[in-house]
Amino acid sequence: MAKFIEELKRTHNCGELRLADDGQEVTLFGWVQNRRHHPNAIFIDLRDRYGLTQLVFDPDHPAYEVAKRARPEWVLAIHGKVRDRGQTDDGTSLHNPRLSTGEIEVVVGQAEVLNEALTPPFPIEDSVETNEDKRLEHRYLDLRRPQLQKNLVMRSKLNHHARNYLAENGFLEIETPFLVRYTPGGARPFLVPSRLYPGSFYALAESPQLYKQLLMVAGYDRYYQIVRCFRDEALRIDRQPEFTQIDIEMSFIDQDTLFTVLEGMVFRLWKEVLGIDLEAKYPEGTFPRMDFDESMRRYGNDKPDIRFGLEHTDLTALITEHGGGEVPLFAAIAEKFQSGAYRTDLPAEIIKAMVVPAEHSLSRKDTDQLEKLCKQMGSAGLGRAKVQADGTWTQSPFGKVITDDLRNAINAAVGAKDGDLILFQLGATAKVHTVMANLRVHLGKKLGLIPEVGAADDWQFLWVVNPPLFEQEDDGSWAAAHHVFTRPQDQDVDKLETDPGLVSCYRYDLVLNGFEIAGGSIRLHDPKVQKRVFDVIGIGEEEAREKFGFLLDGLSYGAPPHGGIAFGMDRVAMLAAQTESIRDVIAFPKTQRANDLMTGAPSAVNPEMLSEVHVAPILPKEE
Ligand code: AMO
Repeated sequence: MAKFIEELKRTHNCGELRLADDGQEVTLFGWVQNRRHHPNAIFIDLRDRYGLTQLVFDPDHPAYEVAKRARPEWVLAIHGKVRDRGQTDDGTSLHNPRLSTGEIEVVVGQAEVLNEALTPPFPIEDSVETNEDKRLEHRYLDLRRPQLQKNLVMRSKLNHHARNYLAENGFLEIETPFLVRYTPGGARPFLVPSRLYPGSFYALAESPQLYKQLLMVAGYDRYYQIVRCFRDEALRIDRQPEFTQIDIEMSFIDQDTLFTVLEGMVFRLWKEVLGIDLEAKYPEGTFPRMDFDESMRRYGNDKPDIRFGLEHTDLTALITEHGGGEVPLFAAIAEKFQSGAYRTDLPAEIIKAMVVPAEHSLSRKDTDQLEKLCKQMGSAGLGRAKVQADGTWTQSPFGKVITDDLRNAINAAVGAKDGDLILFQLGATAKVHTVMANLRVHLGKKLGLIPEVGAADDWQFLWVVNPPLFEQEDDGSWAAAHHVFTRPQDQDVDKLETDPGLVSCYRYDLVLNGFEIAGGSIRLHDPKVQKRVFDVIGIGEEEAREKFGFLLDGLSYGAPPHGGIAFGMDRVAMLAAQTESIRDVIAFPKTQRANDLMTGAPSAVNPEMLSEVHVAPILPKEE
């Protein structure tokens, strides 16, 4: 008998055979999905990552013995003949329309068990109920599930088409180090102790940022890299400690040129990978832009999901005009308010409102729950007002005391009608924005305003642009709001010394359905302006050299104007796969607690290894 693999090579995969192959001799390899014992035959569905093929084992045939032994997840090799599944005696078709190979089956002539398998801890199918920890522990089994395979195939295509697009547009793929010098200002890094230099550490690169800038200095004017980045930060549903960026940097460009390149790439990826023509939605080939200030005002954050309304209205100026309208809480903020500008400098406290239209008729219990949510986010509570036909407010702590004038003005400003519910937050600006932003998304989901994941291809892209260069610390000092080498906007450079809070910069984020999928900036290549920026944030020459010496050196040898962006590949894949967890698009992800349940990383290492790298652990004290 011919030997499998050496002589009998795979002729087809398990998702490939069709009626047109009827009568062909084929060799298949795969895993046993299931086995059905009928009086006249054993049926096995053989699975690989391409699909399932039904095998038929005849009791008169020696291969029947193999089928009798086979169990789920065993690895089989078979040789046999394709035949039409045909019909029953009464003419009912035996074709299975739900399966791509459902018209045929393979009558097995030769079979061999290539390997046995333990009984898997969960069934290999998409509708798996097993909890995620268990699945992550046996990720190699989880990865056999068609949905995860589909996600990884999709991700591979995203990489492939991104590479094609960037190569066609003259970008060079250049690798940069992972083991780097720690530079301050970014996310918390993972540290790697040096064996050769006792007491010294590498950091794992949180991104190739400084290297890609130095590549611009070196003249490689269009760089890209599909690159791993490492950040030891608090994990969320869309964050992993190691993740992948499509990292890009270009010389001699402005923000518009960079946007065009990025937009072209996104259009290409959506078309090639998802089969979606974004031109139908964005005929100009560009995504809309929104100023950071506007985004904060209307949505409370810089990554708004613009698929639904529930926009915020800032009432600070209006309420101030009315001197607080007899509401003590309003009056306190009105007094402190000085300007309506939404910059990092002003105002310290604000009042925002959001209208839940009457049709959603939230009960008191609902609003109590919303208040609880606000409190969990650190707010003192949730102001409410139910608007009546005559404009008065009920169910409201403000209803009885507020002046008619202010109440009417607020109703008009937020556009509230009979039966609508107005929700208020007031207090420290950043907190109000955050609580209101989260409340908006929470309500959007609760009220069914956001399409369910997987339900609709409503792709809402948005560039958020022109954010402030600095943010103010509690003690009044200024800090860089982004990478310290972000270029201030030309028209604002004069304000660096006089009004740092009003300096905008060339920093941009690309947002998709409420997720930041890319971010970047035009860099500051002019050493004179750089020095002025350092002055604002209180970094002297010595400190600048200590922190960024090599970059400053590089930039002083003829740095071209340059800028770039990095695309969060995992997030893009997560949204494209319409899944709610970034882990679903990563072959071997970490849990929300940053460990790998399959390998058990991180793990203790023995004292000899530690002493080789000159490290002694300082363990937290037992409680
Ligand atoms: P930034 O820090 O904004 O920019 O990162 C770029 C994009 O990477 C994604 N991202 C993440 N994805 C998964 N897990 C994480 N922990 C994580 N952190 C970030 C986001 C984000 O938009 N060097 C700059 C880019 C530049 O200026 O050119 C940078 O890294 O989608």
